[in-house]
Amino acid sequence: MTQHATKILVIHGPNLNMLGKREPEIYGTESLADIDASLKQKADRLNINLEIYQSNIEGEIVQKIQDAMGRVEGLIINPAAYTHTSVAIRDAILLLGIPVIEVHLSNIYKRESFRHHSMIAGVATAQISGLGAYGYIAALDALFSRFSQSP
Ligand code: DQA
Repeated sequence: MTQHATKILVIHGPNLNMLGKREPEIYGTESLADIDASLKQKADRLNINLEIYQSNIEGEIVQKIQDAMGRVEGLIINPAAYTHTSVAIRDAILLLGIPVIEVHLSNIYKRESFRHHSMIAGVATAQISGLGAYGYIAALDALFSRFSQSP
């Protein structure tokens, strides 16, 4: 019998499409395509069906989350700058009712004080902040072990 592949959505928020060129001393030199390729590789090994989406536009991210309702079993999201401002993304996440992991490449608590508050953390299952690109891999692993637990 073929096992059903767990479907997980990854959302990258604004300016993350510029990774590699963007403040490399903070965000590293890997491009978003590099990060996505390692995520895909990891997902394939775990038999996870991964969808990856990036947008610079808050409303598009809200729409993507709404469209994921009933369709995906886990969400990994780096809301980038919207982390600190978006009630709309927070409210959309509340609609989902699935495990959600918030990822930040940098440790937001070591940076400017306006980055210390996350609108998302209170509605996420967990937050990973400061592990660089590995944070996404760790999030995928964490969701996988959650889904592979026997009921
Ligand atoms: C970020 C941290 C945010 O404060 C910032 O606005 C980003 C990226 C991170 O991954 O470290 O764009 O989410």
